[in-house]
Amino acid sequence: MIRTFERIARGGLFLLDPEAAHGASIRALKTGLVPACSAPADPRLSQTLCGLTFPNPLGMAAGYDKNAEVPEALLKLGFGFTEVGTVTPRAQAGNDKPRIFRLVADEAVINRLGFNNEGHAAAFERLVACDRSALIGVNIGANKDSADRIADYVAGIRLFYPVARYFTANISSPNTPGLRDLQARESLGALLKAVLAARNNEATKTGRRVPVFLKIAPDLTEEGIDDIAAEVIAQRLDGVIVSNTTLSRDGLSDRTHAGEAGGLSGKPLFARSTAVLARMRQLLGPETVIIGVGGVGSAETAAEKIRAGADLVQLYSMMVYEGPSLPGRIVKGLSELCDREGLSSIRDIRDSRVDHWAAQPI
Ligand code: FNR
Repeated sequence: MIRTFERIARGGLFLLDPEAAHGASIRALKTGLVPACSAPADPRLSQTLCGLTFPNPLGMAAGYDKNAEVPEALLKLGFGFTEVGTVTPRAQAGNDKPRIFRLVADEAVINRLGFNNEGHAAAFERLVACDRSALIGVNIGANKDSADRIADYVAGIRLFYPVARYFTANISSPNTPGLRDLQARESLGALLKAVLAARNNEATKTGRRVPVFLKIAPDLTEEGIDDIAAEVIAQRLDGVIVSNTTLSRDGLSDRTHAGEAGGLSGKPLFARSTAVLARMRQLLGPETVIIGVGGVGSAETAAEKIRAGADLVQLYSMMVYEGPSLPGRIVKGLSELCDREGLSSIRDIRDSRVDHWAAQPI
């Protein structure tokens, strides 16, 4: 019944330009038009990582709820956690429209939004009104015209500290010129040092240590991956999110939009992002948290990210194709996997295919 309703709704939304459809879906979540469809709580899916208890391993990725308009409504859909942002200190308009494209034949999306968002203050005001127990992460970035990008990240940590359950430093959007350069070893070292000093300072003041994750691109060389891992270890960062969208256009069949500039996400990103994730797990060892994201659209693809080394998983693009019942269905499917394989915890499958995925080309 819900699936029939969803297919009709998708038909309607697909008549709209993708950005208008996104706006309509946010409004529907705000008004409660979208039925809550979370799966029943399953202790086998729950994990405590960095002091946070995640009721299940599936989160909403950054970029959907950029301005923190609907984090609690997203959690009601079945996600175990959600990430708002990317937020920048000052509001910015982003690139000219159109700037989001659906590649329907490939179940993919290309976007070149360029961090359009209402700025720190607007998101902060909304987050203050949220239930403090809700697992909401804040993804922070830098303004396009910032004179000091590192200072923008530090400002994010300071402002959102009371309302964030975790932070993500996003240095991997392909749509802010030069941002990905922050992934180079020296710049990354300077960024992490400043961000972690700000976090440690707030932790001392408040007695609450909020974990910080780093979100990386899938378009890295082996050497680039080694450098990031070395910095993550040296600076004792809490975790890594692998990955953001890709600049690659390999293997697409959609000829209408494949040539659009921007970052590609969805199904065609799955293999590349999973290969980078497995390399990260090999380099970081078993303790550092890794969140796998890129092309997740089913319980099986979510489980495969965990087998490749992920503790947690996020998704965005496949919601466009599968609708708002997707998180509930994935979580239910993970419980069924635990039944089938006789697992006492979903963590029992973690790393079982790291070697396979780390051997895949990137
Ligand atoms: C994104 N993504 C993203 N990531 C981020 O860290 N900050 C952001 O503001 C955005 N914005 C954004 C907008 C749109 C329209 C899309 C499709 C994606 C990237 C997203 O969080 C995720 O890393 C990738 O999309 C890969 O996951 P999926 O979409 O394949 O599940």
